[in-house]
Amino acid sequence: MVGYPAARVATRSRYNGGDNNLTMTTEITLNLQRHYLTIAEAMRTIMSFDGEGRLILAFRDGTNYTRGLSGEVLLKCVVGPGHKERRRLSDDERRALLTELLAHTRQMIERVEATATPAAHDWFERIRRWDVARLEADRERFRTVYKPISILPPDQYRALVLQATEGCSWNRCHFCTFYRDRPFRIHSPASFREHIHRVKAFVGAGLALRKAIFLGDANALIIPQPRLRELLSVVHDEFAIGPEADYKGIYAFLDIFGAERKTLDEYRELAAAGVRRIYLGLESGDETVFRLLNKPGSPAESIEAVRVIKTAGIAVGVILLVGAGGDRFAAAHVQHSLAAIAAMHLGPEDIVYLSPLIITPDSPYLAQLQDAGSSPLSATAINDQLDQLKRGARAVVGSGAKVVIYHIEEFVY
Ligand SMILES: C[S@@+](CC[C@H](N)C(=O)[O-])C[C@H]1O[C@@H](n2cnc3c(N)ncnc32)[C@H](O)[C@@H]1O
Ligand code: SF4
Repeated sequence: MVGYPAARVATRSRYNGGDNNLTMTTEITLNLQRHYLTIAEAMRTIMSFDGEGRLILAFRDGTNYTRGLSGEVLLKCVVGPGHKERRRLSDDERRALLTELLAHTRQMIERVEATATPAAHDWFERIRRWDVARLEADRERFRTVYKPISILPPDQYRALVLQATEGCSWNRCHFCTFYRDRPFRIHSPASFREHIHRVKAFVGAGLALRKAIFLGDANALIIPQPRLRELLSVVHDEFAIGPEADYKGIYAFLDIFGAERKTLDEYRELAAAGVRRIYLGLESGDETVFRLLNKPGSPAESIEAVRVIKTAGIAVGVILLVGAGGDRFAAAHVQHSLAAIAAMHLGPEDIVYLSPLIITPDSPYLAQLQDAGSSPLSATAINDQLDQLKRGARAVVGSGAKVVIYHIEEFVY
C-alpha cells in the first residue's frame, strides 16, 4: 500500500459507478469498493476493512501492517538500502497498535461522516462494532475454526483456506517445521462440511474478498482419489466455482511422494473439478541436496509429476529453496535446479518461486549439513544465489512462467 496514489482512488470510484462512492475532504479519502473500504488521511495513514468491518491492512509512518483472519499482525517496512524488516507483532505490540489504529479510524470517520453517503454510513457502523477486545476474541475464535495455517504460496494469501487435511503426511523434511505441531489427518466428508460451515460463519461478509479456494494443508492432493472426489464434491455443494463464479478455482500443495501416485486420468478429473494450479516444493534439482533435505521422491520424479499434471491441463507452482545445501553444494544446486526447471517446460500459467532458506533452531537441517561437510550460506551469499537463480530461471523459462520471490516470513493468514 506504499504510495497509494489519489488518482487510483478516483479511478476505482469511477469503476464503481460514480462520484457517490468517493468522499474527499482536504485530508481524508474514502474509497468504497463492493467488498472492502479504505480510509486514508493525506495518503500517509491508510486503513482497509473487510465486509464485516474488520481491519485487514494498515499503512502508517512508512510501515505496512497486515492483520490476517487469524488475528495475527505482520509488520513490514524498509529499514535500510535493500533491507526489509518482516515480523509478527508480539501480543502486547499487536494490542497497542490496534488500539491506536482503531482510535485513529474513529477520528477519521467523525471528520467525514457529515458528508458521507448512506452506503458509507453502513460501512462506518460495521467498522465501529470492532474494538480491540472484539478483535482479540475473534483471534481466539479463529483457533476453534482452523488448525494453524502455516504457509500458503504467495499468490494464494487471499484464498479461502479449507482444511481438507490437517498437517503434512510426510513431515520429515529436515528444513521444514511448518506442521511439526500436529498429526496428519484427512477429513471425512461430514467433518469437512462441518469445518466449511464454521469457516463460512466465521469469515462472514469477508468471504467476498476471497476469489479462490485453497485446499489445506501441506499436501491435500495426496488424499486417495475416491475420498478426494467426495471432498471436492462437498466444496462444490458449498461454493460456486468457475471462471465466471465467485471463486475462480481450487488450488493445493502436493509433495512429490503423493504426485507419483495419481494417474493422468485422475489429474484430468481434478482439472474438471476446478483444480487450477498445484504447488510442488522441488527445493533443489540436485540429487545430493535433495536427499540432504530429506524430501520424499527425487528431482526426476518431480519433473515427471509436473509433466503429468500439466498434460492434464493443470498449472504448476514450483518452489526452489535458495541456499539449500550450503556452500559446498551451492554451484551444483544452482546448476541442477535450473536444469530441472528447464526440463519442466513451464508456460505462462506456471510460476517458479524462489524461497530463501530460513534455518530454524528446532530443525535438524544444520546437523545434516555439517555431517555432509557443508556450512550455511551467509546472508550475502544467499542474496547472490537468489540473483543467480532469478536470472537463470528467467532465462530458461523465456517468456513463459513467472519467477517470483517467496519470503516465508511475509506470510500471515
Ligand atoms: C508446504 S511446503 C511445500 C509443499 C509440499 N508439502 C512439498 O513439500 O512439496 C511450502 C514450501 O515452503 C518452503 N519452506 C519450508 N520451510 C522453509 C524454510 N525453513 N525456509 C524457507 N522456505 C521453506 C519450501 O520451499 C516448501 O516447498
Ligand atoms: S516441505 Fe512439504 S513434504 Fe516436507 S515436511 Fe514440509 S510440508 Fe511436508
